[in-house]
Amino acid sequence: MSRFVLAVDQGTTGTTAVVVAEDGRIVGTAYQEVRASYPRPGWVEQDPEDLWRSCVDTAAQAVADAGVPRSAIAGLGITNQRETTVCWDRRTGEPVAPAIVWQDRRTAALARQLGSAGGEELIRSRSGLLPDAYFAGTKMRWLLDTVDGLRGRAEHGEVVFGTVDSWLVWRLTHGATVATDVTNASRTLLMDLRTLDWDDELLELVGVPRAALPDIRPSSCVFGETVPSTFGDLEVPIAGILGDQQAALFAQACFEPGQVKNTYGTGSFMLMNTGTTPFTGQHALLTTVAVGFVDEPAEYALEGSVLVTGSAVQWLRDELHVIDDAAETEGLATSVDSTGDVFFVPALAGLGAPYWDPYARGTIVGISRGTTGAHLARATLESIAFQSADVLGVLQAESGVEVTELRADGGAAANGWLMQFQADVIGIPVDVPESVQTTSLGSAYLAGLTTGVWSDRDELQRRRRTARRYEPAMSVDERASRLDRWHDAVDRSRGWARDEP
Ligand SMILES: Nc1ncnc2c1ncn2[C@@H]1O[C@H](COP(=O)(O)OP(=O)(O)OP(=O)(O)O)[C@@H](O)[C@H]1O
Ligand SMILES: [Mg+2]
Repeated sequence: MSRFVLAVDQGTTGTTAVVVAEDGRIVGTAYQEVRASYPRPGWVEQDPEDLWRSCVDTAAQAVADAGVPRSAIAGLGITNQRETTVCWDRRTGEPVAPAIVWQDRRTAALARQLGSAGGEELIRSRSGLLPDAYFAGTKMRWLLDTVDGLRGRAEHGEVVFGTVDSWLVWRLTHGATVATDVTNASRTLLMDLRTLDWDDELLELVGVPRAALPDIRPSSCVFGETVPSTFGDLEVPIAGILGDQQAALFAQACFEPGQVKNTYGTGSFMLMNTGTTPFTGQHALLTTVAVGFVDEPAEYALEGSVLVTGSAVQWLRDELHVIDDAAETEGLATSVDSTGDVFFVPALAGLGAPYWDPYARGTIVGISRGTTGAHLARATLESIAFQSADVLGVLQAESGVEVTELRADGGAAANGWLMQFQADVIGIPVDVPESVQTTSLGSAYLAGLTTGVWSDRDELQRRRRTARRYEPAMSVDERASRLDRWHDAVDRSRGWARDEP
């Protein structure tokens, strides 16, 4: 009987489930948006129950869509929005508070404090990260400091703090497995990149008790079996977990050191495979675990995280009503010759790599009486490409590797105008694969390797096919002058927000 792999991608904007056949084709899919709330400026929350429900629903729908018997599903892969933090009761599985989403900036002052007095050096060298509000550890600490009685419960191990993967695993196994994978754990500020375990000095610095954390396991292993009564009658091994960006790197078959992918979603995340050596002591980039297999050394990546790209397009849609649908930006961008010298720095959640300024805020410069929605839409797409160009520059400078092609994926990789402009401002080709569903595919591939549906990575490598390749067409001078102007605009966005009194 042929076998299939189910994968669930729990993202910030929505949850996608896919069923993948042995030949690598996606034979069933389902998608559901998930809600977020913005209770104060800079705060972003989600309901952990919504995240869980969306996984149950989309998984069942994808299996129905594929029309395959449940018994033919060999394993479940999970991939997820990273850093988003959930706290729940270890016994009952009830959430203790709303999930604090990765984009949330409420811990900016706390992060700055953690970075002082040698903290930054410890964080960089041990965890590969930076003292920034982005990372899960700061969000755990905030909950510990603000939810009544939580610290005592945490110290007694009565609650669990975890990223979304571990939350889903608890629910899927009804508490039989309290574990996270090594790629997600590498986003908490609390894990030692080399030992792949929680680190006592980091735990002490950030102020999170070990008793409240899940176990760290390799990405490729059997985490447990799903409980059919809560998971749409499916009883399958959870056989692979990767953070969404690591899953995309895997699906893009960036298995060799020096290969780079950029995923254009809510934010944009450029990762370079650096092999089995973690590359730390960088300035603007993060060192992160790319994937972990049982009894093999972990593989690492250098990462440039841009916090707001596709979500700026959503802002045009939902708040300014310049468009009804993200794809309309492409037609609008081509309807004008230029932005009319308008630049939009979408620092809606501060700036990530390479600036790391949580106090930056969205800034539009160069508006004149003739500026239209089309100019603004074009400036938004340009900002996505400029931010990624900044990251690529730092990635090359810090790694010493000259990158010769950028593998692109994610929702906005469907925008041909954006991909061409991206190639233009980085001066190297942008290569888009046939399937831009890379996150769910990456975790499906991993779960399929764990369960023996596929034999090795060479088999996966052969599956990646280019759908379209964009060659750079802009002159070197023009590229330099556009980037100069962009950097002027970035300067104007910085340091705007104030700490709350
Ligand atoms: N044609 C398009 N042009 C520009 N932006 C687009 C286009 N299509 C989608 N987007 C943007 O891409 C994002 C959705 O892409 P994708 O589904 O990959 O996001 P994601 O980051 O995976 O979401 P999540 O955070 O839920 O995982 C949205 O922010 C949307 O505004
Ligand atoms: Mg995603």
